Order: sequence, then structure tokens, then C-alpha cells
Amino acid sequence: MKILLIGASGTLGREVESTLRASGQDVIRIGRKSGDMLADFADPRGLASIYAKLKPFDAVAIAAGDVAFGPIAEITREQWCFSFDNKLLGQIAAVQQALPYISDRGSFTLIGGLFSEEPIPLGSAASTVNRALEGFVVAAAIELPRALRINLVSPTLLEESVPQFGHLAPGVIPVAAATAAQAYKRSILGAHTGQIYKVGASLRG
Ligand SMILES: NC(=O)c1ccc[n+]([C@@H]2O[C@H](COP(=O)([O-])OP(=O)(O)OC[C@H]3O[C@@H](n4cnc5c(N)ncnc54)[C@H](OP(=O)(O)O)[C@@H]3O)[C@@H](O)[C@H]2O)c1
Repeated sequence: MKILLIGASGTLGREVESTLRASGQDVIRIGRKSGDMLADFADPRGLASIYAKLKPFDAVAIAAGDVAFGPIAEITREQWCFSFDNKLLGQIAAVQQALPYISDRGSFTLIGGLFSEEPIPLGSAASTVNRALEGFVVAAAIELPRALRINLVSPTLLEESVPQFGHLAPGVIPVAAATAAQAYKRSILGAHTGQIYKVGASLRG
């Protein structure tokens, strides 16, 4: 299977790449600064020219997307727009722009995160974007043509990110990025569509 992986050089993306390669898949790495192809998926021109060059392909998987963090009373309109343009609309555009090129029965795997259901102070944009992504995935799943599938991976805090972000989510039990990567494998190699894979126990019980 030929899989385009956006964000392959990141904490999560590295594990997704090695998990997919270990199961014999052909992974094309895409990022802004490093990878087999360079692209910024937050740019409205985004990935269209890359998709045209790489067609046909069987899957688009995303392990990238930023949001702004800030106090609810102070977070600016610019910070909201940054968050929507990047993690939310960047991923939605990555799906829309791939539609002319992706193979029948292909799949999309997007990335959300724990703040959709475990809000934290300063995280209103992250919670909003992650919930919006869940809405997009369940809606797109019933509308995509040609038996295309779409799922969302929603990991809790990654173990590898605890030194950087652990203080933002006190008490949350982290999960290894390699475990979150299994959800990508399940999404891409399996048959699910419209699924939100909530990876990691956290305090979800
Ligand atoms: N880390 C966690 O604990 C955690 C938990 C739950 C959810 N998540 C979510 O998982 C995703 C990845 O997190 P991470 O910690 O792995 O991030 P990361 O280590 O910062 O890696 C991000 C990757 O995405 C690429 N990238 C970033 N913006 C891009 C853009 N606009 N266009 C193309 N490529 C782009 C980066 O490479 P270039 O710099 O070369 O572009 C890099 O490869 C994020 O959406 C995050 O919210 C993370």
C-alpha cells in the first residue's frame, strides 16, 4: 500500500512511519522542512500539487497540526484563526484535495487529541478544534465516494511528550507513541470508517 504520511518527522509521526513500514507498507514522508516531499498543509494551496505528483496512492495519514494555547479572556482572534487554519482546516483540506487522486477504497486517518473531552486551562482552542475534527470525520464518513474511508486518532498525552507538555495535563496517564501508531495501522489496513480511536486510558476509565 502506498501511504502519504504528513508529519512523519514528529514525535507521533516517527512511530507511525516505523509501524507502517514494519508491516510492509510504502510510506512517503511529507513535512514543511523535512521528508520525501515538502509541503505546508496549512497553506491554502496545500498539498494539491504533491498529490498530483504522487498519484495514485492508497492512504493519507496525518500526524501534524498546531493550535494556540492561551487564557480564555486573552486568546486573540488571530490565535483562534491560526488554530482553525492549521490543525482543523489543514486536515480538512488535506482530505478534500486528495479526492481526485486517491485510489478507490483508500483511506484518510486524521489526528485529534485528548483535549476534545478532557479540557485543560489555556486549552479552549485545542478542545474546540479536536471536537470539530471528530464532527468532520463522522460526517465525511457517510459522504465520501468510491468506498473511501476516514477515521480519527485521538491519543491521550504521549509518553515522549511528558517533559514538554506533562505539566498541562496533571494526572493524565500517558501512552507510548508506538501504541497510538497502532491506531493508524488499524485505520489504514482495517475496514473501519467514521471511527474515533481514543488511544490511552488517561482518566477515561
Ligand atoms: N504529543 C502529544 O502528546 C499529543 C497527544 C495528542 C495529540 N497530539 C497531536 O498529534 C499531532 C502531532 O503531535 P506531535 O507531538 O507528534 O508533533 P511534533 O513532534 O511537533 O511533529 C509535528 C510534525 O508535523 C510536521 N508539520 C507540522 N506542521 C505542519 C504543516 N503545517 N504542514 C506539514 N507538516 C507539518 C512537522 O514537520 P515539519 O516541521 O518539517 O513541518 C513534524 O513532522 C498534533 O496535532 C498534536 O496535537 C499530540
